[in-house]
Amino acid sequence: MDNTPAINILNDILRHEWTGVAQYAQAGFVVSGLWREVYSKMFFESAEESFGHAKQIGDKIVSLNGVPTVERNPIKQTNDIGEMLENALEFESKAVQLYTEALEVCSGDRALVVLLEDILLEEQEGVDHISKLLRDHAASGAAAGSATKAG
Ligand SMILES: [Fe+2]
Repeated sequence: MDNTPAINILNDILRHEWTGVAQYAQAGFVVSGLWREVYSKMFFESAEESFGHAKQIGDKIVSLNGVPTVERNPIKQTNDIGEMLENALEFESKAVQLYTEALEVCSGDRALVVLLEDILLEEQEGVDHISKLLRDHAASGAAAGSATKAG
């Protein structure tokens, strides 16, 4: 069996997860102001989740006789918490897309499908969670705006 297509898509995923490790850790480092109390921990936990996924995918690539990539994509940096959350949503959505694509490529390997589905579920939970945070974030901004108007 030719493992090349599977190895290629898994390395695309690994590159994305390495990007997550750096991008989320950077957000955890620089987030400041009142939001730091809430979001620094969350960003570091997301970095750790990305590392956990990278470990699972890297191990699998070696099992398939491939070489895990050490590259990552460019990371998005900002000091604005709203933009950090937008970047996080974009990151998690891209992860959902990549794992969904990998599931099609690897459909003949049931065990790999199970592994990818488990991670896909976590990525989708990330999308759902951050979407809700952004809703609250927008709502609190809107509430502050209307309070100012009312005042
Ligand atoms: Fe991930």
